[in-house]
Amino acid sequence: MTRMSKLSLLTALASACCLTANATAAAPDWSKVPAKKITLFYPGVSPLEWITKGSEHGGARALRKGESCASCHHDEAADMGKKIASGQKIEPKPIKGKAGSIPVNVQAAHDGTNLYLRFSWKQPPGGAEKMDKDNAVKLAFMLEDNKVPGANLSGCWETCHADARTMPDAKDDKKTKYVKEGSVASGKYYDLVQWVSKGGKFDGHVADKRVMDGGKALVEAKGEKKGDDWVVTFVRKLTGGDGDVALAAGKTVNFGFAIHDDHTHGRFHHVSLGYTLGIDAKADITAAKN
Ligand code: HEC
Repeated sequence: MTRMSKLSLLTALASACCLTANATAAAPDWSKVPAKKITLFYPGVSPLEWITKGSEHGGARALRKGESCASCHHDEAADMGKKIASGQKIEPKPIKGKAGSIPVNVQAAHDGTNLYLRFSWKQPPGGAEKMDKDNAVKLAFMLEDNKVPGANLSGCWETCHADARTMPDAKDDKKTKYVKEGSVASGKYYDLVQWVSKGGKFDGHVADKRVMDGGKALVEAKGEKKGDDWVVTFVRKLTGGDGDVALAAGKTVNFGFAIHDDHTHGRFHHVSLGYTLGIDAKADITAAKN
């Protein structure tokens, strides 16, 4: 696998969905919705400052010229995660036995009112010290409306900074993720939604700081583990209020997601590179009308 290998971004989604007579707000028949496999990887300490510093990150120059993280790294996310989780690179505190990556199937659909998202994956090995005692697993995704500079290339990395809590250089253990010069009013923010396994959901955003509530779009977040298989689903209104990225047919937004596996918190999650989510639009993941 070469680093420069380009993504084949197009998934054939034509004719994938079902013709139902009644278009009520019910979850789609997931067995008929195509899945995109996205490998989450363990990012270690790779904040935006590290990513954009040419002397440390091989991709910094190309990123400045407009190449996306995924264009270089999509196919090798598992290798990257292995290298980082083992402590070979950019992880000063390796966790023994930590999975380097988690391949996740992502499905999306909409019905004109709601967006439906489904994430499924196999539980990797774990058993490390429990940082978050209450939650074995948490899954979050973020949407961005092409207003935060760089978010179309780097996904969630625009919110990931060296001074955030649990980072080695953090000075403030309250400081979470943020967007430089971000604000909801200017549109420079990420919409943030999270499901937690003890049972619970959060609908917030990330602007100058992370806020875990205030969103009006999230209707439902559910997850369950059957055997070793996790399935987490979200129902989200296409439009909500302040801090909710408005979705509509024909629109494409930036999309990234993360799993806190094995009772982790803070930076000790598995993350995706940046992808696009299209509503009836060609994108890395397309939510077609069902
Ligand atoms: C032009 C291609 C390119 C782009 C674009 C790019 N990278 Fe990289 N990245 C590299 C190269 C080359 C390395 C160094 C690999 C090595 O050590 O040989 C690297 C290393 C890394 C590493 C360390 C793990 C490893 O395998 O060495 C991480 C994490 C990473 N990149 C994340 C990102 C993220 C996140 C983005 C987007 C914000 C990004 N990269 C954009 C080429 C790229």
